Amino acid sequence: METDFMTLTRFMLEEQGRCDGATGEMTQLLNAICTAVKAVSSAVRKAGMAKLYGIAGSQNTTGDEQKKLDVLANDVFINMIKSSFTACALVSEENENVILVDVDKAGKYIVTFDPLDGSSNIDCLVSIGSIFGIWKKEHTGNATEADCLQPGSKMVAAGYALFGSATAMVISTGCGVNEFMLDPAIGEFVLTDRSIMMKTRGKIFSINEGYAQYWDDATKEYIHSKKFPDDGKTPYGARYIGSMVADMHRTIKYGGIFLYPSTSKTPSGKLRLQYESNPMAFLVEQAGGMATTGETRILDLVPKGIHDRCPVVMGSYHDVKEYLNCRAKHAK
Ligand code: AHG
Ligand code: MN
Ligand code: MN
Repeated sequence: METDFMTLTRFMLEEQGRCDGATGEMTQLLNAICTAVKAVSSAVRKAGMAKLYGIAGSQNTTGDEQKKLDVLANDVFINMIKSSFTACALVSEENENVILVDVDKAGKYIVTFDPLDGSSNIDCLVSIGSIFGIWKKEHTGNATEADCLQPGSKMVAAGYALFGSATAMVISTGCGVNEFMLDPAIGEFVLTDRSIMMKTRGKIFSINEGYAQYWDDATKEYIHSKKFPDDGKTPYGARYIGSMVADMHRTIKYGGIFLYPSTSKTPSGKLRLQYESNPMAFLVEQAGGMATTGETRILDLVPKGIHDRCPVVMGSYHDVKEYLNCRAKHAK
């Protein structure tokens, strides 16, 4: 048996040791998020099913209606982060307003999260995930909503958890991207892929083609060119899971392009800037890829509201570049 494995906590402590002026607050925060992810992972995998649902035909022990998985995930994230003494303001997809942490428990970090991403896939057991982004409060006063409206370029860390055939966490604190897998035998995340760099070009495109009639001409032409390449090359493969985390994890590991673009029906796309697009864009750029709305670098967008949406095109550098070239041609 391996006796010297690199756990997520050990990795963070080592990174912290290399960083001048680090106080350990980030390690503490990531630890809290990691605990939340373990709890959500267990719930997603329906561990304790008998206790949750009772045996067929019986009610669960308390007679309460079972909490929906996304509500449960949200509660766990909020409770773990609040009690870590490292965060002052939280933004969750599930909460309309910013959650401000009591001053006596507050730390310097702003944390945004989508506690359960891919909700349409929950009930059919297809991969889902959680996404988070971390910023710093830039002043010494109490946190307000304005602190949560910083652009992605100011993020200090981001990551996601994927509840797939195994549970993985992919994290960046701004010095590359690392992947950890949950080893159920020891209940720890163990380093499985260090300093991930994306392929500069992939062979897969990922978009909801059901909306093709609402796409702009550039997107139509780009996707057509992947299916019918005029240079005699092999067409790209199509993959679309409908959970951003799963689609982006594949894009980071295998290369290719993921799009949730602006359409005539949804000019701002669907994905949320502060807890979906920005964390993913941060990871993609850290892994050598590119992330854009089609007009602007995602990390340069300045949010007006905590639940703002933005169009998303991200993935392998040359694939995204090619998409942008196609747009530039149509703009003329
Ligand atoms: P959420 O479950 O947090 O609401 O997010 C779902 C998102 C994202 O995960 C995915 O990429 C996208 O919705 C899929 O949307 P379509 O079904 O419109 O393709
Ligand atoms: Mn989501
Ligand atoms: Mn969600």
